Amino acid sequence: MSSAYLQCIEPHCQSRFPASSRIYTCERCDGLLDVAYEPSALSPEHLKILWANRRASAKAADQSGVWRFRELLPEADESQIVTMIEGNTQIFEAPRSAEFAGISRLTFKHLGMNPTGSFKDLGMTTGVTQARRLGAESVACASTGNTSASMAAYAARAGMRAFVFVPAGQIALGKLSQALDYGATVLQLEGDFDDAMRLVREVTREADLYLLNSVNPFRLEGQKTIAFEMLQQRSWRVPDRVVVPGGNLGNSSAIAKGLKELFDLGVIPRLPQLTIVQAEGADPLYRLWKAEAAALEPVPGATTLATAIKIGNPVSWKKALRGLRWSGGSVEEVSEQEIADAKAIIGLDGIGCEPASAVTLAGVKKMVAAGSLNPDEDVVAVLTGHVLKDPDYTVNYHRGSLSYVDASGAKVQITPHHANRLVQVPAEAQAILSALKM
Ligand code: F0G
Repeated sequence: MSSAYLQCIEPHCQSRFPASSRIYTCERCDGLLDVAYEPSALSPEHLKILWANRRASAKAADQSGVWRFRELLPEADESQIVTMIEGNTQIFEAPRSAEFAGISRLTFKHLGMNPTGSFKDLGMTTGVTQARRLGAESVACASTGNTSASMAAYAARAGMRAFVFVPAGQIALGKLSQALDYGATVLQLEGDFDDAMRLVREVTREADLYLLNSVNPFRLEGQKTIAFEMLQQRSWRVPDRVVVPGGNLGNSSAIAKGLKELFDLGVIPRLPQLTIVQAEGADPLYRLWKAEAAALEPVPGATTLATAIKIGNPVSWKKALRGLRWSGGSVEEVSEQEIADAKAIIGLDGIGCEPASAVTLAGVKKMVAAGSLNPDEDVVAVLTGHVLKDPDYTVNYHRGSLSYVDASGAKVQITPHHANRLVQVPAEAQAILSALKM
């Protein structure tokens, strides 16, 4: 789409800026920005046919689960697009997870099946493409791990330098190893993600680095295609509810924007309810929602073993709130024990995911038990990261050695209700045969 511009989301401001502006927030009021589009005359039927045909094309920009939907994205010349054919991720039926949650049927859209193992790739293809259009040579982000892995990979593909700011000792090893392998400069900060986020924003104001956190609205344009692809895969049948983990709140905001755009264009007749799930120790949006507060109160020293969402001061909370209001959505929170058991069950469906993704199933179970989710609802839960991102967590759970430190400083042991214990056997046939009878 050629008619993109940037627009401030603050109702009192709504200032517009050209899409080529190298800004991340509103120059007038510092509000968050949307990429917005001039109204177009595209018919829903025409769009659906165009997008369906591209799935059979041999061109990279057609095969990408992001750029396939380019009528609803900022214009980019095909030679400038930095793509790894991201998207095209499966929707799985998950009968064991459904039974665990007490719901008749549950499906997972698994974004961990992307090239670097998380949904961030959908945002990085548009973010790094925008960086290239602006002539940036270096990109930067703060990260709990996945953003850094993805940005490092896409920057490498584009021949750019990547600088990642991560909280020291607080990101899963799979993710750290990716950022190193893809050649990023990894700055381990002695602080948490919220410190890293504050500092990367400060530094990118001074240094010639293009910021690729989700405060950058071009990132969210890619991530909104999660909604497009999910509906295309469902032959445009709208689910009752979409459940998504909430950390920095970029992804839930992006999905909400994508759904709203499809609705406004007449591609879908109604909006599914959006449910955002947070970990109890990192739950600022949940607190805001419960208190019906006007502004988000950060949670200092946020804590959870689901390190991807260990965030106390989410940048995109206003966009997430807007998305919840559009769809009559809701926010839930779940405990460390609930996350750990839910993750094990997703594994038993043969799917697996990283801990942050499992808050979705834990949230669905909790809502069914509380009567706030009808067991007959058609629910799509979004799994955000691959099971191999954080193998330490998984192995510790099954070994019975997963623990965390609670708000009062006490060590709390997770009880592995669905443990699959390692079986230790001497290296001899008889011992193995007796072990097999267990
Ligand atoms: N799930 C996973 C696996 C994530 O990596 C993240 C965020 C989220 C959920 C939450 O998404 O922040 O858009 O609300 N990870 C970021 C990172 C913060 O740096 O990788 P969100």
